[in-house]
Amino acid sequence: MADTIHHTKHHASHSKNPVPTSAPCVMLIFGATGDLAKRLLVPALYNLACDGLLSDNFAVLGTGRTQLTSETFREHMSSADQGIRKFHTRKNFDETVWNNLVSRFHYVSSNMDDINDFKKLRQEIASLDSLYQAEGNILMYLATSPSFFAQLCKQLYQAGFKDGAGWRRIIIEKPFGTDLKSAHQLNEQVLAHWNEDQIYRIDHYLGKETVQNLLTFRFSNGMFEPLWNKNNIDNIQFNVCEEVDVGTRGGYYDGSGVLRDMMQNHMFQMLAYLCMEPPASFAADAIRNEKAKLLNSVRIFKPEEVPKNFVRGQYGDTHHLDGTIKPGYRETPNVNPQSNTETFAAGKLYIDNWRWEGVPIYLRSGKALWKRGTEIVVEFKKAPIALFQNTPVERVSSNRLIFNIQPVQGIELLFQAKVPGPLLGLQKVDMRFSYGDAFNVSRYTGYEVMIYSCTNGDATLFSRGDLVEAAWKIAQPILDYWKDNVALEFPNYTRGSWGPKEASELLKHDGRHWYEVATSEILERLPLFKNSDALLLNSLTMALRPITASAREVIIHKGALTKDLYLICHGSVEVIDDNGQVIETLHDGDIFGEISLLISTTRTATVKAKTLTDLFVLGRADFSRILRDHPQFAETIMKVAKERYSITVSKEQLMSL
Ligand code: BG6
Repeated sequence: MADTIHHTKHHASHSKNPVPTSAPCVMLIFGATGDLAKRLLVPALYNLACDGLLSDNFAVLGTGRTQLTSETFREHMSSADQGIRKFHTRKNFDETVWNNLVSRFHYVSSNMDDINDFKKLRQEIASLDSLYQAEGNILMYLATSPSFFAQLCKQLYQAGFKDGAGWRRIIIEKPFGTDLKSAHQLNEQVLAHWNEDQIYRIDHYLGKETVQNLLTFRFSNGMFEPLWNKNNIDNIQFNVCEEVDVGTRGGYYDGSGVLRDMMQNHMFQMLAYLCMEPPASFAADAIRNEKAKLLNSVRIFKPEEVPKNFVRGQYGDTHHLDGTIKPGYRETPNVNPQSNTETFAAGKLYIDNWRWEGVPIYLRSGKALWKRGTEIVVEFKKAPIALFQNTPVERVSSNRLIFNIQPVQGIELLFQAKVPGPLLGLQKVDMRFSYGDAFNVSRYTGYEVMIYSCTNGDATLFSRGDLVEAAWKIAQPILDYWKDNVALEFPNYTRGSWGPKEASELLKHDGRHWYEVATSEILERLPLFKNSDALLLNSLTMALRPITASAREVIIHKGALTKDLYLICHGSVEVIDDNGQVIETLHDGDIFGEISLLISTTRTATVKAKTLTDLFVLGRADFSRILRDHPQFAETIMKVAKERYSITVSKEQLMSL
């Protein structure tokens, strides 16, 4: 059956909204009582309804093994502790909109093995179709365990779902296969019964506004495209950092790992958007063709190349001073106590085409890390320093374009400006665009646009069969190498850290480092900056440089004339006296090295990392300038100086350094 596109026909009858509504259909949800449905799908339908974007000719038919009536299904979805009232994403809950929506929810229980049950579903849909005048359109959403995808597609076909008037579309949740072979097989099984244009493989990252904006940013702004290539860009970093651990998902996660769970799908999709060639149009296949071309140009590693380009990690347990213990990955329920599954991965890819030849593309993602944050950093090549010979300028920083995907949503451009004054001094400054400031946005789950586009026949945000396989091809040699080579050093990173040391060494080896995006939120965790004004925090985040010290590495040598202030992000360091005695141990959030910022002197003690420690470093020149701009910060530093070093220093002295 040919799939037709209904783009602009339907408008919400009750609203003047110029945006067309979703197309009429009955949405058949498999796994309707599951987590995904209640946390994301139903809240997304509710958001669409609140915004007048859901067709009036729409109904849901939920199904699953659980025995429910339509009435109890509605109650379940409306409940305060498990339903919409808990999971909706809007400021205020609108009872009228919800009551109208939930009245269109129906339920029939079914057994996936029984073809007669599918026939019953078909009949139920026919009657809902005439009740709601859904034009014969059926959207089938497979929100079940992936092991049922193939069988469901087959049963639906055999029960006659493909026949009749209107369109048929199937949304298949992730993961689509667990490796290249299984993804290929699943494609064959699905496409044995359905046409490619009826299959909508979901990747919820593509539902995020900030991810979709990558395309519009690139192709609607003339100034960046000419720079978007190996001649101007030094490297690109993709960072998806999660603070959450594996929690209750051990059963699924232990068979997956971060490469499968985050990189092969979400991160490769973002990579494709950022690096693909301009499409001929914004039509689904024009975009997907370019994405496929890009993914097919990514270098496939030979087994011996994997350890040089990819590192992995697994988090261990954490013992808190108050006696509580947070379990390590191997102690997570339903995880093998000897598990070799990676909860962190960092690596380097190359795109072997004209545009990107030789530009390293770094990717990093993990669970139980120091913050939640997804960002893409495009680092441009540096301007030549030669021009600044015989000036006080010692180094020129590179320009960086940062796409903050979440939780901060925006774009930043870092460049250098002259520091006001008679001397030639440079300072990094930034231009920031924040979604929250520029647009009046409601918080969406990301599934709204997916469901909406699918009903309108727009597959742009969904993956095509060949795209999924192209992404698996890149991941496959890494998966194979890791499977064949046990990670002896696991667990190798501490919860709340930036991941294992190997990740920073990977870039150090290339003469680069990861750009840790320090948000004001993170700085405010440090007692010194708590409740500081936004301007000050912003200046500090701009000036901080990240470093990682191994356990027992000396960070400050006694007698050295260094000029930096250190903030411990995660880990602990020891301050050691002349006799080798530890006089103080400092932990997360502590600050040290102030002395050299306060008075011109050599270091009076040695500071050594006790554990693997992640730090931010604030250089003296930047620091003094910030003190001049923000005198209240100088006061805090004066207080710390007095308490820890018994140094009394005036504000004027501090700011004149
Ligand atoms: C899912 C993964 O696809 O994406 C999870 O299975 C992960 O492990 C999640 O936590 C991250 O999504 P988001 O939207 O919170 O970045």
